[in-house]
Amino acid sequence: MITDALVGRDYIETSDWTTAEIDTALDVSADLKTKFRAGEPHRLLPDKTIFLFFFDKSTRTRNSFEAGITQLGGHAHFIDAATSQISHGESPRDTGIILSRYGHAIAIRHDLVPGEGNAYMREVAKHADKPVINMQCDIDHPCQTLADLMTIREKFGRNLKGMKIGVSWAYAPSYAKPMSVPQGLIMLMTRYGMDVTLAHPVEFELMPHTLERARKNAAESGGAFRVVHEMDEAFEGAQIVYPKSWGCRDLFHKPEESLAVGKKYTSWICDERRIGLTDADSIYMHCLPADRGSEVTDEVIDGPHSVVFDEAENRLHTAKALMALTMR
Ligand code: CP
Repeated sequence: MITDALVGRDYIETSDWTTAEIDTALDVSADLKTKFRAGEPHRLLPDKTIFLFFFDKSTRTRNSFEAGITQLGGHAHFIDAATSQISHGESPRDTGIILSRYGHAIAIRHDLVPGEGNAYMREVAKHADKPVINMQCDIDHPCQTLADLMTIREKFGRNLKGMKIGVSWAYAPSYAKPMSVPQGLIMLMTRYGMDVTLAHPVEFELMPHTLERARKNAAESGGAFRVVHEMDEAFEGAQIVYPKSWGCRDLFHKPEESLAVGKKYTSWICDERRIGLTDADSIYMHCLPADRGSEVTDEVIDGPHSVVFDEAENRLHTAKALMALTMR
């Protein structure tokens, strides 16, 4: 199952990998999930080290990588960017070169400043001679969307052509969440021929180049992509709904202002009425953390359509697959 073909490869956006390579990652993820559940040892990376750099908070991503590398026989170093020399201005070039000499992979989360995170990790990757994994940037969250695709396949099988997925903005008062999950979803699911509807209030537009890429992918795969401004339209007849919040693209440096704009749209919640608009066998997805009572009601997130804990679990198996395939 494990191949050497992806050793040393960076994983910064899903579009950096072919669909065949993504399929390989998903096959390895499924195999590692089976082994983990059976209690079968799978120490594929004995004594290997991965550095986990966080410019933002995390529960799932940090723990899936830390637990994952331990289960693979290696070790993770957690680094809070604010307590490293990055906060004194050390360059991504120097950071990439030095950590490449200490270990076997570098993973980075840098997601809250549009225009910065992806460029930062690509600069690290340019100078590192070890693989760089994107744990969420301003453009994509490729670890999340890989786990989402794994979850969708577990529910609906491998052929996803024509399946309707509604990706929608939802109201959340907690913080201005990054745009990378919806952007990553529209860019990845359109490659698999899915019929993708993106819904959001007019103030919550995503980065134009991600919309362009989704349109191009849909045209090439035989899928579809459209943008609407009513939440219900993303739910009508959908087999998959993925309602979650994100901040205003131009207000990430003023998050309170972004939250104030969002307050106009408290009715954008995933509730039982909206789930009633979807296909009878639809699934409700969310990358988590969710603002319960704002983005989604307890009845929906804890109800029969919800697969959020499967998604969260699959973060572990997919993180392990990415490390096992790229690190040596
Ligand atoms: N979904 C996700 O990335 O979760 P964390 O922010 O907890 O890592």
